[in-house]
Amino acid sequence: MTDFRDLLRLRRSVRDYEDREVPVSLVRELITDACEAPSASNRQPCGFVVVANRGMMRRLSDESKKNLLSDMKALKSPMLRLYRPVLKDENFNVFYNAPCLIYITGPRDLHSTVKDCSLAASYLMLSAAGRGLGTCWVDLGSAIKAPETLAELHIPEDHKIVASIILGYPREIPPRPPRNEPKILTIIK
Ligand SMILES: Cc1cc2nc3c(=O)[nH]c(=O)nc-3n(C[C@H](O)[C@H](O)[C@H](O)COP(=O)(O)O)c2cc1C
Repeated sequence: MTDFRDLLRLRRSVRDYEDREVPVSLVRELITDACEAPSASNRQPCGFVVVANRGMMRRLSDESKKNLLSDMKALKSPMLRLYRPVLKDENFNVFYNAPCLIYITGPRDLHSTVKDCSLAASYLMLSAAGRGLGTCWVDLGSAIKAPETLAELHIPEDHKIVASIILGYPREIPPRPPRNEPKILTIIK
């Protein structure tokens, strides 16, 4: 068992994966671990959608890129300038050719959905790191809106996608990006 503090440093965002499937039984174990996360009132609202099909992931990547581009344009978002080149690049797969993707969803109108699903995502990523797997939260892959696609993914109509986590066997673990000094605003004793 990896020491927990070592595990925290072992988890990195991995963007380069071996061409090897992750067994569904293992994905199920990660999801079980994700469900150990706390949730408001213990409501456990998260849904998990597993896509272990690179063709489908490519389609999802294309759809998300297209939606992000039009959303950013409509909102006149300053992020557009930053992300436009990759979003417009036909060859760029937001999922980096990973073999597996997990969407974590929750009820749109529940006040704690983002918090609950984000905690589940953290647990899932740490569980994966502890088992030698790599993950990366890929927000660029979350903008799925077409009703046909949502139906294909079996995402309930009242759910939204909160987290989009890719998963696979890392070719290598990237170095730890620098962290700022903690912003401890106050310690009142
Ligand atoms: C909410 C969220 C969204 C992210 N979206 C993306 C993304 O779309 N594409 C990507 O390559 N990485 C994405 N990342 C990964 C971050 O870039 C990464 O966590 C950060 O650079 C720190 O690296 P580390 O995870 O190895 O500590 C995202 C991370 C978070 C938490």
